[in-house]
Amino acid sequence: MWSFVVHAFFLLVALGLHGRVCAQMGSDLSARDGKENTSAPITLTVSKEGGNKSSPHLYGIMFEEMDRSGDGGIHGQLLRNNGFQGSHPGLTAYAPVGDVDIFQDDVSPVSHAITSSLQVQVMPDETKFVGFSNFGYNGIPVINATYRCEFWMMGAYAGPITLQLVGSASGKVYANHNITVHSVFGDFTHHETSFNSSASPDGDNEWRLLFDGSKVAGASLNFGLIQLFPPTFHSRKNGLRKDIATAVDEMQPSFLRFAGGNNIEGLQIDSRWAWNRTIGPVHERPGRQSDWHYPNTDALGLDEYLWWCEDMGMEPVLAVWSGKSYGGILSGPDLEPFLDDIRNELEYILGPSNSTYGSQRAKNGREEPWRLNYIEIGNEDDFTGGCDTYPDRFTQIYKTIHSEYPNITLIASTIDTNCLPESPPEGVWYDFHYYRKPDDLVAMFNWWDNQPRSQPVMVGEYGSRNTSNPDGVYWSFMQMSCSEAAHMIGLERNSDVVRMAAYAPLLQHFGFTQWSPTLIGFDSSPDSLTLSTSYYVQQMFSRNRGETILPVNTTADFGPLYWVACNINDTYIVKLANYGEKNQTVHVEIADTKSGKLEMLSGPRDGINLPHNATIKPTIDNVTVSHGIYTIQMGSWSVAVLVVS
Ligand code: AHR
Repeated sequence: MWSFVVHAFFLLVALGLHGRVCAQMGSDLSARDGKENTSAPITLTVSKEGGNKSSPHLYGIMFEEMDRSGDGGIHGQLLRNNGFQGSHPGLTAYAPVGDVDIFQDDVSPVSHAITSSLQVQVMPDETKFVGFSNFGYNGIPVINATYRCEFWMMGAYAGPITLQLVGSASGKVYANHNITVHSVFGDFTHHETSFNSSASPDGDNEWRLLFDGSKVAGASLNFGLIQLFPPTFHSRKNGLRKDIATAVDEMQPSFLRFAGGNNIEGLQIDSRWAWNRTIGPVHERPGRQSDWHYPNTDALGLDEYLWWCEDMGMEPVLAVWSGKSYGGILSGPDLEPFLDDIRNELEYILGPSNSTYGSQRAKNGREEPWRLNYIEIGNEDDFTGGCDTYPDRFTQIYKTIHSEYPNITLIASTIDTNCLPESPPEGVWYDFHYYRKPDDLVAMFNWWDNQPRSQPVMVGEYGSRNTSNPDGVYWSFMQMSCSEAAHMIGLERNSDVVRMAAYAPLLQHFGFTQWSPTLIGFDSSPDSLTLSTSYYVQQMFSRNRGETILPVNTTADFGPLYWVACNINDTYIVKLANYGEKNQTVHVEIADTKSGKLEMLSGPRDGINLPHNATIKPTIDNVTVSHGIYTIQMGSWSVAVLVVS
């Protein structure tokens, strides 16, 4: 769609110079490059002197379990309701196979944490193979790969078990795998196996477990904590779904803020995200009813988040519970017991492997301490009744952590001075979240210009979101993504003080949407992974970072074109966003540079990447010039990154 064109003649006229190369980029130029739709050219001259430092961690990600982003999302386990967790799980996602009755059996727990199992009752005259199915999260992704499967089983049975992946409507069998088990009366035994599958053309698939019904006729068997994994990212056991994790990794984020978001807070105090309920073997994790009103298995737990950080080279930004839940707030002496909880959590993460909690970590597969340099105290404590007590709660938790871990950067969950201590300790960072309509996000371009440089900021969540649309915004379109790019240029210009920023939310499983848009969407069907136009903006900005933000002399004011320039050693990077209907010629002058690449994302204002129809992607072209002047044609609603040396 886009072409790189050398316009020697144009340049001779426009610049009065010989041999400069023009990178012509723009959307639908034939229809839109008429004079009435073209703004006067702008020249940007990048200075190599002066400027301000840029945070090495500016671009990162924020993750919380919502929109089935974790269970049914980036966590690799594909079967739903496998531990009957959360409120009223019932038989969600299960169905009988053959002439059997199935029940949620809450008097036959698999473990102290997994308090129910599935009972399969067999008819007295049964002669066939029977069992049950689980259809995952609106189906199961069935690909040409080796799957790993685990389950627990109770009841007297010695004989074959058949595991299958089957098309629910088609009945087509993609995998059929037999094992022999020796299950006993009154006790659960654990079984694990692997099998190959061929690929299904759609997501309408289920997993089945079958056994010889003649051996159980008139009796029952119980099954618990069934698990099914395709190959995982970095081949980790209990790891991440590879396609989704790879897309996240390809943004090259430098931090992960977890585990929320609202989802750490708890609908009630007791249902807050509690770190110690998310560690160890998954059969020891009880799960919880989340803040987003569905069960979390917590199979994606504290260690899994930290492995995720390590595998993608990200700084963990761990949120600790600050005493605020939707069902009540604890402060003062009532918060004291929870301070021990934080101490224990930090010993688990950072303590030597012979300490009480460090040894638990070692037992759970991680001998050496994790990396942890950033902790956020709560989430949005200026909201939902938290403001009055946050100054005290913040101070209690700050002191608890800082006294033992003075090198950890602590982040307040608000920037509102009314909700903060009168004189917050030096070194504290402040988190501020905003979701805005596109024009309003662009209007915040200068927002951080006057932020006191002694008060660093993490923008823990931001994004363009048309909240005035009664139907909600289904998915990002080019105007939204360009508004984010313009705003991010403002963030980057201020990245001496804006130290971290994350678009939110990150992921959604289409069909389970609670909050949209997100950067990445998917479902259980093949090639469902959908990278929004906003994903590409994040990727372009994150993958091209400098160390110093450089001054730029210019012939125009900001808007509708926005820009920022930076460098790392001899490499110079210029980011541009055209938040407008008119095409824009931009001459970028960077002395003593001659070649590099130009990455461009562009499309119509309403251009959108829909599932199975994602057509708007960045293009990359090589650029070479002889006098350090690059002419870039920015089409309407376009974002570009020029990297040259
Ligand atoms: O990102 C969605 C939600 O928005 C987060 O959970 C919360 O922190 C914010 O209000």
